Amino acid sequence: MRGVALVTGASSGIGRAVAKCLAQQGFAMALVARRQKLLEQLQSQLAPAKAVVLAQDLTDFGALDALVASVHTQLGPIDVLINNAGITHTGTLESTSVAEWEQVLAVNLTATFALTRAVLPGMRARKGGRVINLVSVAGERAFAGWGAYCASKAGVLAMTRVLAEEVRSEGVRVTAICPGAVDTPLWDSVGADFDRQAMLSADTVASLVLYAVNLPPDAVLEEATLMPGRGAL
Ligand SMILES: NC(=O)c1ccc[n+]([C@@H]2O[C@H](COP(=O)([O-])OP(=O)(O)OC[C@H]3O[C@@H](n4cnc5c(N)ncnc54)[C@H](OP(=O)(O)O)[C@@H]3O)[C@@H](O)[C@H]2O)c1
Repeated sequence: MRGVALVTGASSGIGRAVAKCLAQQGFAMALVARRQKLLEQLQSQLAPAKAVVLAQDLTDFGALDALVASVHTQLGPIDVLINNAGITHTGTLESTSVAEWEQVLAVNLTATFALTRAVLPGMRARKGGRVINLVSVAGERAFAGWGAYCASKAGVLAMTRVLAEEVRSEGVRVTAICPGAVDTPLWDSVGADFDRQAMLSADTVASLVLYAVNLPPDAVLEEATLMPGRGAL
């Protein structure tokens, strides 16, 4: 076994593709999302790789220490944390309710912070580990109609940069991956007519995550923007 990797949002899209890649590389996998059945289907597809299912709403912040403790008990200490779970919301800022705004920030930003905070002491104690955050070009650029999402992702990018500064000297490697549009179920809930064929595939994003994971411990990919080569944003 190469180590233990926890992937959030493993029930769908990019997280699912990343979990498959890491399992193939010999990592024992902790699969986290809310939809238990989808996680269990993935778990059986990953066999004979070792994988455990942790059905958890990540906005239940008080439960995240126990989640990490459960991974330690079942698999061992976490070597790789992939903060991938995310939601989107479209609408002008004026039309976005405070509840909608808070929900996007809770999943995309605060859960990423809270889970990282729960995992970090173990990595620092062992002087090693990788934290890889799925950000977005929406964290770097403004898109009209995507205000809550852009704000949440800009927050994740800022948090990732701060974390990299705080733990680089302690052997913990921190990466922000900023993809453009990726053809995943995330777009099913977005009303407008986007060309899904022109988007990146989840497998392509997963291959970049794998590249960051596989770098030798004396190197870190701190930020990467990955855009579709066929014109989609
Ligand atoms: N698709 C794109 O164009 C694109 C581009 C750049 C960045 N990204 C980012 O990449 C990440 C993955 O997106 P995706 O495209 O793969 O989307 P997706 O297919 O919709 O998957 C989102 C994942 O997040 C999980 N999730 C959502 N809310 C959760 C919660 N409260 N607690 C636990 N898990 C939760 C979902 O699982 P459950 O529903 O089972 O909980 C699902 O597994 C997101 O952070 C997204 O912002 C996506």
